[in-house]
Amino acid sequence: MKTDLETLSQAMSANGWHMASDAFSALTELDHEGLYEELAKQGRDLEGFKSRLRYLGMTGLDKVLDFGCGFGQWSLALGDLNSSVFGVDKAARRLDIAKLLSSKTETSGTVEFGETLEDVGLRRGGADGELDAIFCYSVFMFVPGDFFMSEFARLLRPGGKLYVMVDLPGWHMQRLTRSLNALPGISYMAANTLIGRDRNIVYTRRSLEKRVKKHGFNIVDSGTDYSTSFKPVAEREPQVDALRLPQTFMGLPMLHEVCATKK
Ligand SMILES: C[S@@+](CC[C@H](N)C(=O)[O-])C[C@H]1O[C@@H](n2cnc3c(N)ncnc32)[C@H](O)[C@@H]1O
Repeated sequence: MKTDLETLSQAMSANGWHMASDAFSALTELDHEGLYEELAKQGRDLEGFKSRLRYLGMTGLDKVLDFGCGFGQWSLALGDLNSSVFGVDKAARRLDIAKLLSSKTETSGTVEFGETLEDVGLRRGGADGELDAIFCYSVFMFVPGDFFMSEFARLLRPGGKLYVMVDLPGWHMQRLTRSLNALPGISYMAANTLIGRDRNIVYTRRSLEKRVKKHGFNIVDSGTDYSTSFKPVAEREPQVDALRLPQTFMGLPMLHEVCATKK
């Protein structure tokens, strides 16, 4: 279904994400859908994302990486709760939007965007263990898993926090029932998984946790989307219901998130 750009722009503005209508024209229909899902729906304003990060316990830190930051909404929320945030995404178009939104959003900390870890100064001359936390939402299944998990381990200080969330088979099943156009992409990911590749794959709860542990992390908590935290249960804040994604599809779990600390 084609996204109506006027409606998208108005719904985003209502959430405090201001973008002139002509900025949408450089984007693809997939980007428009992504903006609609991520930034236009109820509760998806800066305060909503910040409240979820408070629940997670990713606040009050010095240096945080948002890996695969997309349009940058999580980077900006992290930037209002932490001192310095690096948002990295390989899609230049998405980063342009992230920079645009950043220019119109006040954050107490600094937020820097780049296409690679080098761009934001994290590999080039960056010391090992310089990060306090890494946030990686709905990205890790697309990247070479062993390479980036070992980079995360290298970049984090001992005790540093890693949050990673991936799509599970239930998520892909639901996408398929919505549109058969998703079939080639999902088949490609399923085939990669079957032949043992570690990028563009379909994770299971077990395979994600195995990869996290293999690279020197202790798992603090794991579960469905928006259910885990670095904080003890008694200290967690109330959740924003509008931000909760469906947990299962036909009995299958849809998403899996892991909170881990670097040993
Ligand atoms: C589903 S989107 C999630 C974006 C964002 N984290 C969010 O929650 O809205 C996946 C993102 O991963 C990015 N990505 C994929 N491979 C990447 C890589 N090797 N390095 C950096 N970003 C990558 C894509 O460009 C895309 O923006």
